[in-house]
Amino acid sequence: MNGNAPPISLDIEDLSVTYAGGGKQVRAVKNCSLSVARGKIMGLVGESGSGKSTLLMSVPKLLPAGTVTSGSIRCAGQEISRLGEDGINLWRWRRIALIPQGAMNSFTPHLTIERHISEVLERHLDIPRRGHAEKAAELASMAELERDALYRYPHELSGGQKQRAALALALACAPDFLLADEPTTALDVITQKDVLETIASLVRERGMGLLLVTHDLPLAAAASDSLTVMKDGEFVEQGPSHEVSHSPRHPYTQKLIAAIRDIEGEKR
Ligand SMILES: Nc1ncnc2c1ncn2[C@@H]1O[C@H](COP(=O)(O)OP(=O)(O)OP(=O)(O)O)[C@@H](O)[C@H]1O
Ligand SMILES: [Mg+2]
Repeated sequence: MNGNAPPISLDIEDLSVTYAGGGKQVRAVKNCSLSVARGKIMGLVGESGSGKSTLLMSVPKLLPAGTVTSGSIRCAGQEISRLGEDGINLWRWRRIALIPQGAMNSFTPHLTIERHISEVLERHLDIPRRGHAEKAAELASMAELERDALYRYPHELSGGQKQRAALALALACAPDFLLADEPTTALDVITQKDVLETIASLVRERGMGLLLVTHDLPLAAAASDSLTVMKDGEFVEQGPSHEVSHSPRHPYTQKLIAAIRDIEGEKR
């Protein structure tokens, strides 16, 4: 590869998403643009209902039927937003993996974690069955999940273990980009920090790009290179994490940070 070649990136340009089910139109994402390069972490923050999950789900085209999307989504320079189901399937898992919101509650109850991983390997990679156990062990080790947890059912794992299992699953096909929707929200603060550290160091080591959705601005600022702040479907501020968190320019970001300081003050 040419040393001066630009890094491979995931580029969203002028994306708008309108839900049209139930006869009511909801414009959930309005003319949003962002770019995440491999090896970098972008935090996407905003209050509940601001459109974060909608934006994330639009990348692998997992929004409900009838949702109207416009704009461009490019991965490694290729337009993927207009692909049909067969076309986008080649990108899901292998190039772009998603840890959906509530991932830890979306495992199939009667399948062990190893079976979940095995199904993904079978469906998306040409790895023969006899190689699955070894691959699952490798993924567990990457996600810092105890090996024996692979052979348990989802309800037999703690919240932190389930989130690590969701991470192992997302890594199964060695994607270039990881989209993680509130991957630590349901966890206690110590486990949140541990799981996020695992995700961040994996992203750095393996040169993946990460779009990290959270409503927790300090958490995102600590983990990310850059931050995007979303409000009512629009991006109101974007920039390097330390700039956005220390010298926010938009009144909404200032309000978010002031609210966090108030809560922190009350705790003391
Ligand atoms: N399937 C749907 N049909 C219609 N409207 C929807 C649908 N899913 C989400 N919305 C609406 O789109 C807007 C954005 O929702 P979204 O789930 O993307 O927000 P979010 O930022 O992820 O919120 P949270 O932090 O609570 O997860 C909200 O107004 C929501 O009610
Ligand atoms: Mg959400």
